[in-house]
Amino acid sequence: MPVTSPSLPGELDKWFTSDFHFHHLYPLYIQALAQRHWTPLKVVQKASEFLAATPGVKILDIGSGPGKFCLGGAYYNPEASFYGIEQRMDLVRYATIAQEMVGLGNVTFMHGNLIELDFREYNHFYFFNSFYENLPGTYKIDDKFTYSRYLYNQYNRYLYKELEKMPAGTRLATYHCNEDEAPHGYHIVGTDIDHLLKYWIKL
Ligand SMILES: C[S@@+](CC[C@H](N)C(=O)[O-])C[C@H]1O[C@@H](n2cnc3c(N)ncnc32)[C@H](O)[C@@H]1O
Repeated sequence: MPVTSPSLPGELDKWFTSDFHFHHLYPLYIQALAQRHWTPLKVVQKASEFLAATPGVKILDIGSGPGKFCLGGAYYNPEASFYGIEQRMDLVRYATIAQEMVGLGNVTFMHGNLIELDFREYNHFYFFNSFYENLPGTYKIDDKFTYSRYLYNQYNRYLYKELEKMPAGTRLATYHCNEDEAPHGYHIVGTDIDHLLKYWIKL
């Protein structure tokens, strides 16, 4: 377990110099999952800057894991607030410990299933294909859950329904998602990282 002592002024930057440095906020088994499951910092920076287009916005990471997107987003965009919803309690705990270590205040981590959340409390959204592990033949984070195509479809339906309720101008950044998986009304306004990162705006 990492020791929980907040960064001294000026030390905050050191965590964000590379993915390698950032991952030292986590225990080894969380580090080992990073390559497949947690967003690289360069993607976090680009996606979060697209989402934090105006000061004061509230950005939700749908399936926030150990908090890498939210913490990076909060670091790169101090005028925005980042929220993460995550179904795995251990990951929420590691996210909270990492937040205490870096000392960023504009982040909130919540334990729960996204289907319990009203998206209208947020302005913009980040989604790294969080339901993918429900599909057969995919890499799983652990064996604590029952995975099924039924859940994959149920979560996607809820996600689309909530995103479709959002007003025009709502921004969405997706990572490792196909174009045909977009909710109704959202249009691609740009891509990055070999088209793996997509920027969407609701018209
Ligand atoms: C691919 S990881 C991405 C983690 C983080 N967003 C990042 O980019 O570094 C997807 C996360 O979504 C979580 N997740 C999947 N389905 C969920 C659900 N229905 N409700 C809440 N969290 C969920 C998983 O437990 C996992 O931690």
